[in-house]
Amino acid sequence: MKLYKKEGNIVQILSFPDENAEKGDYLVVEDNEAHKALIVQVIDVQFAAVSGMLEELLRTLSEGSDFIKGEDIDPLEIAPHITYIQDASLLVCKIRATLENDQLSPNNSWLPSRSQSIIIKLSVQSLMKLAKVDGDLPIILGGTKDSTLLTIDATAIDGTLNIITGKKGCGKSHLSKLLMISLVGYKATVVIFDLNGEYTSIGMTQDGKRNIYYDKIHTLNPAQNFKVSLDQLHLNVVMGILVHALHLPGTSAREFRRIWKDLKDKDKLTLVNLGEAIRNCNCNQHVRDALASRFHSISNSGFFTDNKTEANLLDESLAKCKNQGGAIVINLKNTSTVDRQIVVEYVLGKLVDSLQSWKLKAVFLFAEEAHLYLRETYWDDIVTRMRHYGIFTTFITNQPDTIQETIYRQADNIFLFNFTNEHDLDVVSRAARIDAETVKSIARDLPPQHCLTLGKVVRDFPMVTRVRSIDVKTMGETRLFFS
Ligand SMILES: Nc1ncnc2c1ncn2[C@@H]1O[C@H](COP(=O)(O)OP(=O)(O)O)[C@@H](O)[C@H]1O
Ligand SMILES: [Mg+2]
Repeated sequence: MKLYKKEGNIVQILSFPDENAEKGDYLVVEDNEAHKALIVQVIDVQFAAVSGMLEELLRTLSEGSDFIKGEDIDPLEIAPHITYIQDASLLVCKIRATLENDQLSPNNSWLPSRSQSIIIKLSVQSLMKLAKVDGDLPIILGGTKDSTLLTIDATAIDGTLNIITGKKGCGKSHLSKLLMISLVGYKATVVIFDLNGEYTSIGMTQDGKRNIYYDKIHTLNPAQNFKVSLDQLHLNVVMGILVHALHLPGTSAREFRRIWKDLKDKDKLTLVNLGEAIRNCNCNQHVRDALASRFHSISNSGFFTDNKTEANLLDESLAKCKNQGGAIVINLKNTSTVDRQIVVEYVLGKLVDSLQSWKLKAVFLFAEEAHLYLRETYWDDIVTRMRHYGIFTTFITNQPDTIQETIYRQADNIFLFNFTNEHDLDVVSRAARIDAETVKSIARDLPPQHCLTLGKVVRDFPMVTRVRSIDVKTMGETRLFFS
């Protein structure tokens, strides 16, 4: 390989067919005189444009036909050399760092010698060592092309905001399950908003036996084994549900607050009494109607109960996770849009409460297709207030434009699967920690189950892995007619 050109943070390198460098590979451009080296990543592979090449190609094209009669004479035997040159490629590479005295720095302002530089491939293993992608809590993501394992550290997803995105069916939920069980293995508390009910069986192996996580997976099915009784609810959580999930206007909200406090003081907070109090409330007809319709939604959701033995507060499950770690799967599969919002509002309110009172240290929240249940104001909340309290969120989606821009700007890690659609790639490129060229060029060619990992977990050295398989029962399969 030979250095050809450098423009800004892009270098172009000439490479011959037998050197087979591919997109995503890392190379070192070593300048022994300067005692420095550039670490670059191939982001595109093109044909080398050699002048006279077109003529040469045309000549070989006509060889196959009977058009020109005669014998090829090649006394100097240059034909093999020419074909070699024809297949030469130009590697467009992005400079990732400068290596000097075994230390990496982001500096790319120097120019390596064109004649003296030696260019060699850099294995993922050596790169990870140089970049210090290591730690005491390893999570093996999968294998890389040069058959090393890409291992990130759990501490690098601690306190962070993450995005897993890519086309449908390419393995996003699989990766999020892998991350979840790894975190649970390190005794973390994980909560998942499971839209399709596909996380409920992570406690099972593929052939239906219990696995080591079985006792640590707590599935909560709203209105079934997950109900709350009113007197155990905090007023602010109820108000959150009424105002945000059920859009109760301000004046009616004030009235509701009054009714609630009144019942609470008398120790009579039940669904029945609440309905009664609203019917008999001495207030404007509109307010009463507004309250009555919200009460109707609340009692219809089946999520609230007056029967205390039936009530299963989130607290119990959180307490189970506290010491040994565990995952709480909130199964939203058979829940209507409104009920889903009620449940999510309740869970988030409850998490903030538990974190504020230090009943809980921190929680990793996984949210699949969050735009289907997360209200507008929560997006900003998640990057600011909730993160501060210790809710560290991972968004999983196949529609990257449903995730708000603030999330992209603040995201610490992005796990990107294949996207071919230009618009989707544009959206993802907005993330602050990644550069658009890398994303567009590499993500477009990723095979299924391969993921481009970007951000803090790989110390900003984008790496491609084939995500490893895990022995848990999957429920995410698309339902088909012909099978
Ligand atoms: N790395 C992997 N190894 C083995 N199976 C995988 C892997 N990634 C995905 N799968 C399987 O492929 C299917 C689709 O994956 P899934 O994660 O549900 O896709 P997505 O969430 O992106 O739509 C699932 O049945 C899953 O078990
Ligand atoms: Mg999925």
